[in-house]
This record gives sequence, C-alpha cells and structure tokens, in this order.
Amino acid sequence: MKRIGVLTSGGDAPGMNACVRAVVRTALYHGLEVYGIMRGYSGLIKGEIVRLDTTAVANVVQRGGTILKSARSQKFMTREGREEAYNQLVHHGIEGLVAIGGNGTFTGAELFEREFGIPTVGAPGTIDNDLFGTDYTIGYDTAVNTALEAIDKIRDTADSHDRAFFIEVMGRDSGYIAIPCAIGSGAEIALVPEQVQSIDSIIETLQRARGRQKSSLIVIVAEGEEEGNATHIATQVKDAIPELDARVTVIGHIQRGGAPSAADRLLASQIGIAAVEGLINGMRSVMAGIVDRKLVYTPFHDCITRKKPLNHSFVRMIDILST
Ligand code: F6P
Repeated sequence: MKRIGVLTSGGDAPGMNACVRAVVRTALYHGLEVYGIMRGYSGLIKGEIVRLDTTAVANVVQRGGTILKSARSQKFMTREGREEAYNQLVHHGIEGLVAIGGNGTFTGAELFEREFGIPTVGAPGTIDNDLFGTDYTIGYDTAVNTALEAIDKIRDTADSHDRAFFIEVMGRDSGYIAIPCAIGSGAEIALVPEQVQSIDSIIETLQRARGRQKSSLIVIVAEGEEEGNATHIATQVKDAIPELDARVTVIGHIQRGGAPSAADRLLASQIGIAAVEGLINGMRSVMAGIVDRKLVYTPFHDCITRKKPLNHSFVRMIDILST
C-alpha cells in the first residue's frame, strides 16, 4: 500500500483533529502518501480530495471540530453513490482508508469494503461513546466535561430560585453522556434509554427529594430517552406537582465543540497511529479501540450491531448519592 485517504464523517467530535494529525504523521513516518477527503463520504463522492503533508496538520492537535469537515451522506448509503466514491479513489490511486466517525460511518465503510474491496480501518470519533469495541470514543471525555460545566452553572441559578431543572444532554441512543453528568453534578435522577423509568417513579423520586427540603433539583435527560424529551417529561411532572417551579434547558451542540481534553488528545493520537498501522498490516473493516487499556481491533460488524452495555452500577450510584 502506497497511498491512503483519511476522512471524518457523522457528528464532529473534539479530538478528531488530533486523530487526523496522528493518521497523517504515521502514514508519512511509514513512507505512505496521505490524502485528506473533505466532508466525509459526500466529499469522497465529489472528489474533494487533497494531498496532506506534515505541515497541513500542524497546530491542529488542540483544535475542536474537524479540519477535514464532516457530513452525513445519504448518497453513500446507495450503491450508485458508493460506486462514484470508488471511482474517485481509483482516480486518485488511494488504496486504503481511515474513517473517523461513529456507527453510520462504519456501516458505510463495511458495505464499501464488501462491494469494492477498499480496506478501511475505523477510528471511533463520536461524543456519544456508544460504540462497541472501545471503552471510550474520541470526543466523549471533552463533551462530558463541557456538559458538566454548563450543569454546574445551572445548579447555581436553580439553587438561588429553589427550582427544578430538567436538563437534556446529547446521546442519540445512549446514556453515556447523561450518567457521568448526573453523578458529577449531584443530580437527583438520570433518565437514559438503557434503563427506562416510569413517569410515576420519576415523580416519586422528586417528591422524596422535596420532602428532604432540597432547595434545587436536577434531572438529567439523555436525548434518546424513551419517555420523551426533557420538555415532555417536565410537563408531565409539572402536571403531577403543580407547585414545582420547573425549567428546561437543552444543552445542545455546545457539547460537540471546544478544545479536546488531554484524555481525548491522547486517545485520538493512539487510535490514529493504530488505524494506519492496522491498514499497513492488512487489516480491513475493523475499528481500532482501547479496551481495558489495551489496543484492540473489532470488526465493524460487531461495532455496529452489538450494544455497548451501560454500567448499571453507575445508575445505582445516582440513587445512593442523591439520598
Ligand atoms: O452522534 C453525535 C450527536 O451529537 C448525537 O448525540 C446527536 O443526537 C446527533 O449527533 C445530532 O446530530 P446533528 O448535529 O446532525 O443534528
């Protein structure tokens, strides 16, 4: 293999730049040429492909977002789109890919490899931390810290006004962001898709907390929570406890931005090196991840289809600590 490409796809995540940098420098270190593919699979289909040298990734390790830009490509989900992408790779002489992204990114890469034989090694880049095959994903640590900082600020005003806040954090199908935010902010409850709680039990927990004269109440809601979003839950609780002075805050995309934490820079760098070395060693359709502090490569199929279990002892901790 002489020439590889690198792309970022799906929701951006802090640390993606550190990973791109590691990919480029590792490729150059091993004597490979490396091309940056702009805007994920969309840019690949359109041929937005640029040669990257070592200076192209200077001064990016600390920057949030992605210098390669990102997109969610519907066209790549079609056979016709993948064929156009393949033709672009052939045209540029690119023989292997490093794809930095999440579930959707790897679903596309797996199909692409099966149909056109282009080997891809994935790097887990998503704030959601919902990928099987790695303990942590690139961007997760930063996102949790960003959310927690916002929640601490909300706590100040909640406490001053004796209010309850229903705070929605990201995590499309998972409570991985919600749980550490709840533990770290001293929230009363975390509502996560992995462990559904009835409205009645939410109301009961809040009533108990009020009985203990708590001046502020915090409920963290993962956006993928099955009972509905934070506004929907707050409305139902308000109906049952009309005297509750409640507000809703959706933290939103602020969780995706900002400089990556030290942990994310380190993880992104390790994974970037592992992805390129995996490609050189003939790996394909696998994601590089860290499990129990060890580097592992997990088939895309498992990353996509197997659910990373939430640590339920964390859910219990919230109960104990909000006593
Ligand atoms: O996958 C990361 C994520 O931030 C999810 O937590 C969220 O559901 C989704 O992306 C939002 O995507 P978009 O920015 O396309 O609205």
